[in-house]
Amino acid sequence: MFGAVQFGVLAACIVLFVPMGLAGWHLSRNKMLFFSGALFITLAVGVHLTPYFPSFSTLISSSSSFPSSSTVVSSSVNHDSCISSLHDIEFYTNIQDSRVNNDSSSSTGEKMKNSWKWVDSDKGVMDCEFQKLSKSDASDLLNGSWVVVAGDSQARLMVVSLLELVLGLEEIERVRGDLFERHSDYHTTVDVIGMKLDFIWVRYVSNLTDLMVEFREKRVFPDVFVIGAGLWDMLHVNNAADYGVSVRMLKDSVMPLLPVTPEFEVDDRRVAVRSPHMFWLGMPMLISSMLNTEEKREKMTDAMWYAYDKQLYKSKLVRNFGGPLFLLDIHSLSSRCGRACTVDGMHYDGVVYEAAVHIMLNALLVESQQRL
Ligand SMILES: *[C@@H]1O[C@H](CO)[C@@H](O)[C@H](O)[C@H]1NC(C)=O
Ligand SMILES: *[C@@H]1O[C@H](CO)[C@@H](O)[C@H](O)[C@H]1NC(C)=O
Ligand SMILES: *[C@@H]1O[C@H](CO)[C@@H](O)[C@H](O)[C@H]1NC(C)=O
Repeated sequence: MFGAVQFGVLAACIVLFVPMGLAGWHLSRNKMLFFSGALFITLAVGVHLTPYFPSFSTLISSSSSFPSSSTVVSSSVNHDSCISSLHDIEFYTNIQDSRVNNDSSSSTGEKMKNSWKWVDSDKGVMDCEFQKLSKSDASDLLNGSWVVVAGDSQARLMVVSLLELVLGLEEIERVRGDLFERHSDYHTTVDVIGMKLDFIWVRYVSNLTDLMVEFREKRVFPDVFVIGAGLWDMLHVNNAADYGVSVRMLKDSVMPLLPVTPEFEVDDRRVAVRSPHMFWLGMPMLISSMLNTEEKREKMTDAMWYAYDKQLYKSKLVRNFGGPLFLLDIHSLSSRCGRACTVDGMHYDGVVYEAAVHIMLNALLVESQQRL
């Protein structure tokens, strides 16, 4: 069925897209990358990433099995199925890595290194061509942007992984002290790429709501917003129904920050022209027997986790449950990584948050393509 017509279309696309892509490569180094539209992102990413995927050659050889509407690049692959495949990740232990990266890992004395990858055999993963972004790809993508991460210790670990990606491992060691000062905010600017990053230490969902109101009043919005709270609440309040009430209030406060779309329009409030990409950082799997205090073991049970999760579901805050925010599903990731990836039953190894960072960046790419 793969006839001359499709091949002609493909050839025409190559002729058209490659030069445009090259133009995109030069232009991509500014903040417009996020917002100047999907075509631009498709091109820039295509050019940055094509060398890393075998896709182009395999695409041509395997395109006879492609539906004719998806002959060109992953942008034509179904957006929803790509979004839903993003968490199809597996973790494995890589012993060789420590030999390859002689210098950095020998200093920590680690022989074994946990790694992660998208499940190769997964159809959605194959079609969507998710990529672990390199430092320079991530820098290009985030160049000039303002990222705000607000939440508890999980959010802080997420910030560490994001900074590891854009700064590199050595640089992060320098800032690790500041970053890990408990219960404090952290602000930094990655000068080389002009990325501004704010970490805001937040205990409760109600604090996130206050933050949303503050941003709305100031009318300045970050480009990427990652929020999440729950663990602290579970330990110190331990009341799922109350949690549900505050999540619903948070949702109401988030709505005006989002682009107006028919299903999200709550009232006829004016909406900012530039809306942030918003992510909800889910709670990890809790392993009660490994938690480090009696109080935690008593209150932070599996049953309580599910009660809290049910409230999140009912509040329709995250998109999986019909809401506006993209869920970074730390529970799914941490369960896949398992007991071997945690020492205290609630904070997981960097590899889990690293995977979450790459899920977030790939989600941004998929979203941007969708806007075409
Ligand atoms: C970031 O963008 C600026 C221009 O806005 C450019 O000069 C700089 O080289 C870019 N940096 C990276 C790492 O892409
Ligand atoms: C690895 O480390 C050893 C000593 O620690 C050093 O002699 C060797 O040159 C290193 N290899 C590489 C590839 O860096
Ligand atoms: C966070 O929320 C709690 C409970 O609603 C409140 O007691 C606390 O003052 C808030 N913290 C900040 C910094 O607003």
